[in-house]
Amino acid sequence: MGDGSTLWLPEAASTVASDVDGLFYFILNTSLVLFVGVIGVAAWFAYKFRRRSDADRPQPFKESKWVEASWIIIPTLLVVIVFTWGFKLFIKMSIAPPNAYEITVRAAKWSWLFEYPNGVRSNELHVPVHRPVRLKMSSSDVIHSFFVPAFRVKQDVVPNRYTYVWFEATQRDTFRVLCTEYCGQQHSTMLAKVVVASEDDFTRWLAESMIDESLPPARHGELLYVQQGCQTCHSLDGAASVGPTFLDLAGAVRSFTDGTSATADENYLREAIINPSAVIVDGYEAVMPGQYGATLSSAEIDALIAFIQEQESTQ
Ligand code: CUA
Repeated sequence: MGDGSTLWLPEAASTVASDVDGLFYFILNTSLVLFVGVIGVAAWFAYKFRRRSDADRPQPFKESKWVEASWIIIPTLLVVIVFTWGFKLFIKMSIAPPNAYEITVRAAKWSWLFEYPNGVRSNELHVPVHRPVRLKMSSSDVIHSFFVPAFRVKQDVVPNRYTYVWFEATQRDTFRVLCTEYCGQQHSTMLAKVVVASEDDFTRWLAESMIDESLPPARHGELLYVQQGCQTCHSLDGAASVGPTFLDLAGAVRSFTDGTSATADENYLREAIINPSAVIVDGYEAVMPGQYGATLSSAEIDALIAFIQEQESTQ
């Protein structure tokens, strides 16, 4: 999130950014010239043709074919220029190059999840620099909108169908992903990072994030915690969020909204992952999705529980 931004626009870090900015500045500057021209001439006329005395009636202005033609021809030309320029750019931004690297994007209230061809999942979008990347996006609930200001790309993400967006990053840096469609209470926190890295660093990150059966369960659980999006709602530092923190959770006594309570042992944690609406901890709402019992393997559930058990405060 460096410099390179101007008064009007954020920094430009993709191959289409300079084209988009060129069109933006053309429209901005043309509007400025027209504004100053129209207001200037109006002010000058108001002064020049002011009435000085009762005898001083304004003389009718002589008709000019040139003036009339110019206010038809100039705006028509401007509209044709902006349309042609914009349409060409729209086509360029709509059609991804055939060799583009594809990443799947899952939007949900209120997080972004990025899935790579090798199965790695992340809440951060990692992409190689100078390589076209195509995003295949869908939403599991309401309409969201994927927006990276530095890349000048924005696309709605809707339920029940795929939408696509592509870009080629030109700078190794970290940029912001925003949701630009109001999608509920925590819309403004629906943010993510885009990490643009060299081809080597990207490949290394992809390999390191790969979940491998030989990992120790707690480390496997840590990767799942990030990749499954648990971190969106469950903190590790004791702060309450949409869901309870994982800090000092294992072994603690939990009180529920139905008045009962239980100790958070392994069976409780397992139940809470697989069937999150069975009991609801006091002070929280039943908002955790129930799909994890079907999408996580039993080894993955073991790994998550091992990771949760490791979250003990050091005192
Ligand atoms: Cu998702 Cu706003």
